[in-house]
Amino acid sequence: MNFLLVLVMLTACAADPQDMSGKMFNFPMQSNRAYVKLITSQREFRALTVCHRSFTDLKRDHSLFSMSTPTHVNDFLIFWDNANKEMEAHVRDKKAEYGGRDYKLNMWHSICTTWDSASGIVQLWFNGQPSIRKFLNLGSTISGTPIIILGQEQDSHGGGFDANQSLVVLVNVQKSSSDLKMNLLLVLVMLTACAADPQDMSGKMFIFPMESKSAYVKLITSQQEFRDVTVCHRSFTDLRRSHGLFSMSTRGHPNDFAIFWDNTNKEMEAHVRDLNVQYEWVDYKPNMWHSICTTWDSASGIVQLWFDGQPFIKRFLDVGSNIVGTPIIILGQEQDSYGGGFDARQSLVGMMMDVHMWNYVLSPCEIQKYVYNLNFTQGDVINWSALEYKIFDKVLVENTVTPCAI
Ligand SMILES: *[C@@H]1O[C@H](CO)[C@@H](O)[C@H](O)[C@H]1NC(C)=O
Ligand SMILES: *[C@@H]1O[C@H](CO)[C@@H](O)[C@H](O)[C@H]1NC(C)=O
Ligand SMILES: *[C@@H]1O[C@H](CO)[C@@H](O)[C@H](O)[C@H]1NC(C)=O
Repeated sequence: MNFLLVLVMLTACAADPQDMSGKMFNFPMQSNRAYVKLITSQREFRALTVCHRSFTDLKRDHSLFSMSTPTHVNDFLIFWDNANKEMEAHVRDKKAEYGGRDYKLNMWHSICTTWDSASGIVQLWFNGQPSIRKFLNLGSTISGTPIIILGQEQDSHGGGFDANQSLVVLVNVQKSSSDLKMNLLLVLVMLTACAADPQDMSGKMFIFPMESKSAYVKLITSQQEFRDVTVCHRSFTDLRRSHGLFSMSTRGHPNDFAIFWDNTNKEMEAHVRDLNVQYEWVDYKPNMWHSICTTWDSASGIVQLWFDGQPFIKRFLDVGSNIVGTPIIILGQEQDSYGGGFDARQSLVGMMMDVHMWNYVLSPCEIQKYVYNLNFTQGDVINWSALEYKIFDKVLVENTVTPCAI
């Protein structure tokens, strides 16, 4: 290994702070006895960021960071759930799961986990890549004398170790801080309600941090009739179930224009006037942004999906009419009735941005310009640069993260 490998054996406590730069902890065997206890005098945490680098070849569950207090065994825990291939972040005994992580064996991984008690938002940064933000409803800060352990997972305060959850061959550098100190231009704006005037949302996104049937964004337009439609948006999720991406209803037509991911059949569905076409073979990968444009031409009845700039085949829908009526346009939930009929199991958890809607079919060139963020013609029905919207329940508006200069 191209590493300065230094084995530090701590037989008992290490009282004085040690500069561990250029060193690492090595956990060479499976046991329920070998571990490192990190000591801090801090007793209360309003927000936390924990970063570490680790390396293992384990093909089972294991703990990467375990902090308990007398009242909460998993007060802050980072845990790999191997059966479900998910990195778990536990705070105050509740957990957020992050699937779709490329947690390869035999290589170093940098993992940072942030939690903020004011917003309840937990986020995992895996090898520098941000996950979607998830909401944990804790309603409290972390308080109590912490016991922080590397190498084992605490099932009781300072104990309850299970060799099957221990860390092996893993080498580790640890850093923990009580402040949210990310070198990122990250501005959290929480909008509780309203926002009547059009807002320029350029460089911003909606964040849907929890599964619910109550959190959504309503987009407002004065348009009442659609002969043709194009809808484009960018979204990011790690959901492994069906979910709605765009839902427009009118009275009598809950799916007057809707984009829906059917996870059972692995199909992207485009609905017009309650009829739908399905697109298979869409490479809808988790944890990355996807640009999705959907067009419908009432004269020909042709629907087309553009996924990440790639056109899919044109499909015919025998709709036979224009879309008419006062539309209710919703992001984050799927309408089964006019303005309602939400199902938490179809809600979006993730991010969405750059939502535009046109009352005509965009040319292929205009779609390419949208996909590559060039100078495209913004939506005349929904314009992200002049967006009228209303937020219901837990939806955040944040700047899209600008990585720091390194
Ligand atoms: C660890 O896992 C093995 C195989 O699943 C099992 O036989 C053993 O009892 C487990 N050990 C402990 C301490 O749970
Ligand atoms: C963007 O496109 C419009 C219309 O085609 C054009 O008038 C404008 O100059 C373009 N802007 C840039 C920066 O290219
Ligand atoms: C979209 O909004 C921007 C910013 O207000 C404006 O400049 C642009 O003309 C609008 N586009 C359309 C098609 O309404």
